[in-house]
Amino acid sequence: MHPMLNIAIRAARKAGNLIAKHYETPDAVEASQKGDNDFVTNVDREAERLIIEVIRKSYPQHTIISEECGELAGEDQDVQWIIDPLDGTTNFIKHLPHFAVSIAVRIKGRTEVAVVYDPMRNELFSSTRGQGTQLNGYRLRGSASRDLEGAIIATGFPFKLKQHSATYMNLVGKLFKQCADFRRSGSAALDLAYVAAGRVDGFFEIGLKPWDYAGGELLVREAGGLVTDFVGGHNHLVSGNLVAGNPRVVKAMLGAMREELSDALRR
Ligand code: IPD
Ligand code: CA
Ligand code: CA
Ligand code: CA
Repeated sequence: MHPMLNIAIRAARKAGNLIAKHYETPDAVEASQKGDNDFVTNVDREAERLIIEVIRKSYPQHTIISEECGELAGEDQDVQWIIDPLDGTTNFIKHLPHFAVSIAVRIKGRTEVAVVYDPMRNELFSSTRGQGTQLNGYRLRGSASRDLEGAIIATGFPFKLKQHSATYMNLVGKLFKQCADFRRSGSAALDLAYVAAGRVDGFFEIGLKPWDYAGGELLVREAGGLVTDFVGGHNHLVSGNLVAGNPRVVKAMLGAMREELSDALRR
């Protein structure tokens, strides 16, 4: 096993156990508002602290980029750990048991290792570049769908970017004519892990942050899937506008979305 995967798994399990423990004592969860419809809790921060502690013990020189604390520059800028200590904070606050810890390692801009851990189901999704995607040690393959017929598409509403809501609704409307149904789970990291597992056939969301998708992106690609921006390019790593699925589903999604895109979403 890649030594960094080993550390990522250790950190994700430690944080996940903490989150699961706090889920049982919701009265001790303190939520505060970061922005419009955007919350953070003491558990997000505590989980982040645990993850950073585990990474720092083995790799004190690496750079860490994490949702709640931002960038902690290390001597080595080439190796970046990208962390979402709790993806699905709103679910967590609402006592909806669907959230995850996401940890990815990028070396010179290329994602090498990824872990997405769902502590409520004890499901650990992991990948090392070139070595496939595993769920609790078993190899995963994405959906075999040929197009959108019968397809279930996961998505997230742009609840922090309401300027895109009209376009988003048009995209949903267009896709809905061709696919079977949608899922909105509240955790982009798990949405991508579920694409990797073939539990959903495709995924799209506007304006994700690197910590939301860095882990899930590698899970999808290593399970034979494709992740692109809204016009089939690679700018998703800059824009955070992601389309994911097997290559045929992504092609069908992009085709359905094409006419509804605003200029801002073509980039
Ligand atoms: C959020 C979740 C959600 C997605 C949002 C993310 P957070 O992350 O992934 O599914 O729709 O865009 O910000 O804030 O719960 O870590
Ligand atoms: Ca957040
Ligand atoms: Ca997130
Ligand atoms: Ca988060």
